[in-house]
Amino acid sequence: MVFHFIQLFIFILPAYVANSLPVLLGHGTPIDLNKNFIDGKRIFGPGKTVRGFVSAVVGGFFIGGILGLFIFNTPYNIFNSQMSYIYSGVLLGFGAIFGDLCGSFLKRRFNRERGTSMFFIDEIIFLLIALLFGSFVFDSLLFTLSFVDVLILIIITFTLHKIANLLAYIFKLKNVPW
Ligand code: CTP
Ligand code: MG
Repeated sequence: MVFHFIQLFIFILPAYVANSLPVLLGHGTPIDLNKNFIDGKRIFGPGKTVRGFVSAVVGGFFIGGILGLFIFNTPYNIFNSQMSYIYSGVLLGFGAIFGDLCGSFLKRRFNRERGTSMFFIDEIIFLLIALLFGSFVFDSLLFTLSFVDVLILIIITFTLHKIANLLAYIFKLKNVPW
């Protein structure tokens, strides 16, 4: 059971890193280039920057590579090849930050200003979209990701997201604790 938890965590780690890195590395040009959507509100808002997006995908790639190097030859190995760690790192990294972008798009449509919290969208959308992209490497995964696994990931992600944002606030990396 604990063993399976660890394998689940190894699998999803690139998505977590990709979702966190922009807080440290992202600033500058917003992805929507300050443009509004047809409803007159920003497409994504000023919190979604090109640098943040790129840092997430590159971060996913690196974490995938590091996991491939250090996990492949251990009992915790989850893929049938080292390359699969890199593929999944990039896919999960891209999926996570693309999902984060979708969340901001929805928040703007619901009239929420940048940085306001919105239950589920803030914590879970990035995970679900990351899993969607990650499913491209399910063939090389040595275990099957069950529906219960996805529920477990939702609970873990929700909890970790709350803790990580609170810590980022305490350490003055974010202006709000969510
Ligand atoms: N960030 C970034 N680029 C991204 C995603 C995040 O630069 N693609 C940075 C921004 O500085 C952002 C911070 O990470 O403020 C925290 O991200 P998040 O909480 O997702 O963004 P919010 O500012 O809360 O914006 P939103 O209301 O759209 O969620
Ligand atoms: Mg936020």
